Amino acid sequence: MTVTYPKKLHGQISSRDMMNFVVKDLEVQTLTLNRYRYSEQRSCKDLTDAIEQLDGEPRDLICDLSRHISDEARHAMWLTDLLFDLGADLGTPRGPSYIDEYEKLLPTAGGKPEVIELIAAINVTEKRGCNIFSAHLTALKNAPQTPENKAIAQTLAQILPEEAAHVRWGSRRLAQLARVSPENAQRVEKAKQRYSTVEHAAYEAGLDITVGAELRRLQHVTAIADTLPLWERPGYLMEQLPRILPDLSHARFDTAAMVLERDPIGFIQRFVPMLLGNRSLRTQTAATQTA
Ligand SMILES: [Fe+2]
Ligand SMILES: [Fe+2]
Repeated sequence: MTVTYPKKLHGQISSRDMMNFVVKDLEVQTLTLNRYRYSEQRSCKDLTDAIEQLDGEPRDLICDLSRHISDEARHAMWLTDLLFDLGADLGTPRGPSYIDEYEKLLPTAGGKPEVIELIAAINVTEKRGCNIFSAHLTALKNAPQTPENKAIAQTLAQILPEEAAHVRWGSRRLAQLARVSPENAQRVEKAKQRYSTVEHAAYEAGLDITVGAELRRLQHVTAIADTLPLWERPGYLMEQLPRILPDLSHARFDTAAMVLERDPIGFIQRFVPMLLGNRSLRTQTAATQTA
């Protein structure tokens, strides 16, 4: 089975590179810790939503998710106490948020969540958490051993093994589900690929302030659409495009809606690049990335 790992930002900047920068400045570091706190707190809310939507079945998954919420609530509590002791901000972080972006990029599905989809979606974010906490801890080992840095390292070292256990739990459940039938194995593979693409796009959107960010975001959204069944792609694109390309005029979107209605497949193949006035989107995006 495919093993997916969090990708580097633009394929070039690793979490470790970023953390070496973060630990150099206590204010930047506490802002980063407050983002962790916010994500941990929010995951309690999201996992609670999942339990409510599952409505009692499968029973063992409800038990696992309720334990998971308890772990995430403890992580949020440890980080809140740490930030309080450091006299740092406990407010909702300003600017783009990884977890908000992740949720916005998820293909919307009404009704009860599919178990494979749910676990695959949880698994990719847990992998990112491990990747970031581990990089942060490594950077702290090489940073000046101030009382603040020691306290931060102690808290992250408490959280990291539990995040690693969450990754193992998700990977184990997905492997079990894949063994049920060849059809299930295929669904697991597809879900892993889809959520890994969504997660990477969310991670970049939370940090991407460079020239060409809009083009890259469009590239990510079309990559996510590629992982969906053909008939779901136009709807997903119409939902996401106005959000990521806010400067496009309504008139252009009205035209897009008309084309979508008449020729959904043609919309994906031709109209999306046209919206940017660029017939070879991928070529230009690649050029922007290497510029
Ligand atoms: Fe956590
Ligand atoms: Fe976790």
